[in-house]
Amino acid sequence: MYALPTILLLSAVLQVAVQAQFVPPSEGPLVASTNYVGASNGSLPKTQLVPGKAFNRIINIWLENTDFLSAVSSVAFNELASQGILLDQYCAVTHPSEPNYIGAIGGDFFGLSDDNLYHIPPNISTVVDLLEAKNISWASYQENMPYDGFEGFNFSSKNYVNTSAPDYVFYWVFVTPNMVNDGHDTSVDYAGQWLDFWLVPLLSNPNFNDDQTLVVLAFDENESYTENNCVLTLLLGDAVPQNLRGTTDSTYFTHYSLLSTVEANWGLGSLGRGDTNKTLSNVFSFVADATGYTNTDVSSNSMLTNATGTIPGPLNPVLYVPFTAPNTAAVGAGGGPVFIGPGLDTSFTADVAPPPVNLTAQNKTVPWLGPRTSS
Ligand SMILES: *[C@@H]1O[C@H](CO)[C@@H](O)[C@H](O)[C@H]1NC(C)=O
Ligand SMILES: *[C@@H]1O[C@H](CO)[C@@H](O)[C@H](O)[C@H]1NC(C)=O
Ligand SMILES: *[C@@H]1O[C@H](CO)[C@@H](O)[C@H](O)[C@H]1NC(C)=O
Ligand SMILES: *[C@@H]1O[C@H](CO)[C@@H](O)[C@H](O)[C@H]1NC(C)=O
Ligand SMILES: *[C@@H]1O[C@H](CO)[C@@H](O)[C@H](O)[C@H]1NC(C)=O
Ligand SMILES: *[C@@H]1O[C@H](CO)[C@@H](O)[C@H](O)[C@H]1NC(C)=O
Ligand SMILES: *[C@@H]1O[C@H](CO)[C@@H](O)[C@H](O)[C@H]1NC(C)=O
Ligand SMILES: *[C@@H]1O[C@H](CO)[C@@H](O)[C@H](O)[C@H]1NC(C)=O
Ligand SMILES: *[C@@H]1O[C@H](CO)[C@@H](O)[C@H](O)[C@H]1NC(C)=O
Ligand SMILES: *[C@@H]1O[C@H](CO)[C@@H](O)[C@H](O)[C@H]1NC(C)=O
Repeated sequence: MYALPTILLLSAVLQVAVQAQFVPPSEGPLVASTNYVGASNGSLPKTQLVPGKAFNRIINIWLENTDFLSAVSSVAFNELASQGILLDQYCAVTHPSEPNYIGAIGGDFFGLSDDNLYHIPPNISTVVDLLEAKNISWASYQENMPYDGFEGFNFSSKNYVNTSAPDYVFYWVFVTPNMVNDGHDTSVDYAGQWLDFWLVPLLSNPNFNDDQTLVVLAFDENESYTENNCVLTLLLGDAVPQNLRGTTDSTYFTHYSLLSTVEANWGLGSLGRGDTNKTLSNVFSFVADATGYTNTDVSSNSMLTNATGTIPGPLNPVLYVPFTAPNTAAVGAGGGPVFIGPGLDTSFTADVAPPPVNLTAQNKTVPWLGPRTSS
C-alpha cells in the first residue's frame, strides 16, 4: 500500500482547444499500448502501511482549467458524484496553473503568477517532508513523462488525437493525465470520457481503491479568470462514509485543505504557511469529524483567492521579496510542529524581510527562474 499524497502537473502549453473525440488509448486502464502506460521496472519499494484516522491512502487527481458549472453538467462527473461527496465551495488559490500546484504541496505559491520553470531552494519544505518524517510513502504519477525523476522543463509527446499536429511539449514536473486527457486542450466531456476509461474501472479495482482509500478529483483552477476561482471537486474512494455518498458539502475549502486534511489524518507536523491559515485550510468534513478538528465557518468565499500577480513573493519579479521562514509557532490540523527544512533561517520571517522590489524595472529576473544548477 502506498500513500499518494500529492500528484500534480504543470502546463503552460499554449494551444487552442480542439473539439476532439475521445478514443480509448488501450483496452483498459491496466493494458499498455503505444500511447498509453510507460514502462514500469517495478522499482517502487513496498513500505509498511502507516494507518491514518480517516484513510490510509490518498490519491489526488487534478484536471485542468474547467469551470465548475461546465464540469458539473457533464454526465461522467454526475455519475461519479453519486459515488462520492461533491464539494461546491472548493477554491483554487490563484491563477494560472503552476502556482496552484506549488501551493497544494508547499502551502504557498510565493507570489508566482506564471507557468515558467523555477527551482525552489531546499530550505522551503513541502508535504513530502511532513510525510517522510513519519515514514509515510508517496509517489507522483505523471502521464507521458519520459522517465522517473525527470527534472527538465519540457519533453515532447505525440498528439494522439491529431497525428498531423506537432508534438505536445510538456513542461515541468508533476503530471497527472496528459494535456489532452486532463481537459486543458480538449473539453470537460473529453476529460469525462477519459475518466470513464481510466478512473471508473480503477475505482472497482481493489489494488487501487479499498475502504481506506480517499480519491480527490479536482481541477487546478477555474478557466474564467474574471470569475470566482472555485472548481468542481469530488471526494471518491471507499474511505468516503456510505451515508455521505451522493451528498454535497458547501464548506469553504481550498487547495491548502489538501495539506491540512493529510496533516490531520496522520497527525503530522505542518508547513506553517497556508496550510495553517484557518480561513484557507478547512479539513474535508468527514476527516475533520474523524480527527476531532473544528473547521472555520467562512461565510463569504467571494474574492479571497482572486489574486494574480499582486502578491509579493520570491517568485514575483515585480514585487520580489526573498524566501522567508514560515510561522514556526503555527499549529496546523495535525497538531505537530512546523517542519524546519535544512538551511532555514527561522528568524528571517515576513515581518523582518525587506519591502518588495521591482526586479523587472531593474531588468532582472527572480533568482529562482530556471532549473536548479547544483544539488
Ligand atoms: C467558475 O466558473 C463559472 C463559469 O462556468 C462561474 O459561473 C463561476 O462563478 C466560477 N466560480 C465558481 C464558484 O464556480
Ligand atoms: C522511520 O523509519 C526509520 C528507518 O526504518 C526509523 O529509524 C524511524 O524511527 C522511523 N520513524 C518513524 C516516525 O516511524
Ligand atoms: C528503475 O528506474 C529507476 C528510474 O529510472 C532507476 O533509478 C532504477 O535503478 C531502475 N530499477 C531497476 C531495477 O532497473
Ligand atoms: C525545452 O527545454 C529546453 C531546455 O531544457 C529548451 O532549450 C527548449 O527551448 C524548450 N522547448 C520549448 C518548446 O520550450
Ligand atoms: C490537426 O493538426 C493540423 C496541423 O497542426 C491542423 O492543421 C488541423 O486543423 C488539425 N486538425 C484538427 C481536427 O484539429
Ligand atoms: C478577479 O480579478 C481579476 C483581475 O484582477 C479582475 O479582472 C476580475 O474582475 C476579478 N473578478 C471578480 C469577480 O471580481
Ligand atoms: C489567511 O489568508 C487570508 C486570505 O488570503 C488572509 O487575508 C489572512 O491574513 C491570512 N491569515 C493569516 C493569519 O495569515
Ligand atoms: C532559504 O534559502 C535561500 C537559498 O539559500 C535563501 O536565499 C533564503 O534566504 C533562505 N530563507 C530562509 C528563510 O532561510
Ligand atoms: C515594475 O516595473 C515594470 C517595468 O518598469 C512596470 O511595467 C511595472 O508596472 C512595475 N510593477 C510594479 C508592481 O511596480
Ligand atoms: C533595461 O533595458 C532596457 C532595454 O534594453 C534599457 O533601455 C533600460 O535602460 C534598462 N534599464 C535599466 C534600469 O538598466
